[in-house]
Amino acid sequence: MPDMLVPLYRSGEWKDRKAALAENGIAIRNAIAPERAPVVKWIYERFGDRWASEAECAFSKTPTTILVAQRGAEMLGFACFDTTALGFFGPTGVDEKQEGQGIGTALLIETLKAMQARGYAYGVIGGAGPVGFYERVVNAIAIPDSVPGIYADILRLPQDAE
Ligand SMILES: CC(C)(COP(=O)(O)OP(=O)(O)OC[C@H]1O[C@@H](n2cnc3c(N)ncnc32)[C@H](O)[C@@H]1OP(=O)(O)O)[C@@H](O)C(=O)NCCC(=O)NCCS
Repeated sequence: MPDMLVPLYRSGEWKDRKAALAENGIAIRNAIAPERAPVVKWIYERFGDRWASEAECAFSKTPTTILVAQRGAEMLGFACFDTTALGFFGPTGVDEKQEGQGIGTALLIETLKAMQARGYAYGVIGGAGPVGFYERVVNAIAIPDSVPGIYADILRLPQDAE
């Protein structure tokens, strides 16, 4: 899984999905501190303790660096930035039952726009799983020789939930 580079200054070319989702009752917004415990639990249950740990990091700042997708009070997905490294996008995930509605695309675009607003010219997708998804949605390109990248010496403990 390579890291991928995204030119944030080309955000004007990305197809906005947020408005279309809003018409279907799905909102994308920054998560706030009181949501920390339930949101981290939601992530832990679906995606394991490494991503939950990164979400904890995203919640440790004000404003937070985690966006959520919700329908009413129901959480549908999330995306983080500036967790494992500054300028990194991720992790991100959508509830399995909610995939394919454009939620992952909207979370990706809104989070990258938040990074651009912080002053970054480029974003890095750390350890990109669905490479084709990132290529297609935001013109990301794989960074040569980026495996295993920053995760090379990560501890793998017996209690890892992944
Ligand atoms: C990747 C993910 C966030 C996409 O969320 P989503 O809400 O289903 O995404 P969208 O509905 O906006 O877009 C889905 C599109 O991406 C495509 N896609 C999904 N996974 C893909 C992959 N691995 N490779 C290429 N395309 C992929 C779908 O086929 C779909 O294409 P379509 O628009 O032509 O139908 C979601 O599948 C997910 O949570 N996956 C598990 C966690 C994960 O891998 N996170 C990324 C870590 S870097």
